[in-house]
Amino acid sequence: MATPISTGIDVVTFLEEQHEQIKLLFNVVNGSEGKAKQDAFTSLRRLLAVHETAEEEIIHPAARRAVPDGDTLVDARLLEENEAKKILAKLEKLDVDSPEFDEAFTLLQRGVLVHAQAEEREEFSRLEAALEPAQLERMRRAVELAEKVAPTRPHPGVESATANVIAGPFAAMLDRVRDALTGKSGEREGSAAE
Ligand SMILES: [Fe+2]
Ligand SMILES: [Fe+2]
Repeated sequence: MATPISTGIDVVTFLEEQHEQIKLLFNVVNGSEGKAKQDAFTSLRRLLAVHETAEEEIIHPAARRAVPDGDTLVDARLLEENEAKKILAKLEKLDVDSPEFDEAFTLLQRGVLVHAQAEEREEFSRLEAALEPAQLERMRRAVELAEKVAPTRPHPGVESATANVIAGPFAAMLDRVRDALTGKSGEREGSAAE
């Protein structure tokens, strides 16, 4: 367990790659049915839980501090994230093969994609301009911790303890990712602290 090797990937590249994974998973859900659709939807919820929580704990606070007019920008993003959470709570109660699911899922997809685009254009690019490369890379490592504590893919058959932690309703996933993320990142010089 040596010191993590620097990959040189900054937090913006990392999160933009996750946006691409999110888009792919939306397409997989849309193109599946039955158990495959349910499984893809579970993977999507896990990835969204990890991704949005990492943004809320690490990226948005940094943007508030470092980006001109950061509060206005971040408040708009948080409204969008909350809207997505409401739709997810509704989706969790629906049968994935019902027309009601598809209708709400289309709304979620549209909202999440608009949100991701707004982050990339208005928030990430300005954060990249405002911070030093070393800071951006350190933030990426903090965000990456969320992936480690909350695997985004289920392990068929042998669910690990950490995978089980991120099962259940989306709201519970968020709480658990947040606890894991803030606990661990607190040990690492409290990078997201105010
Ligand atoms: Fe977000
Ligand atoms: Fe995002």
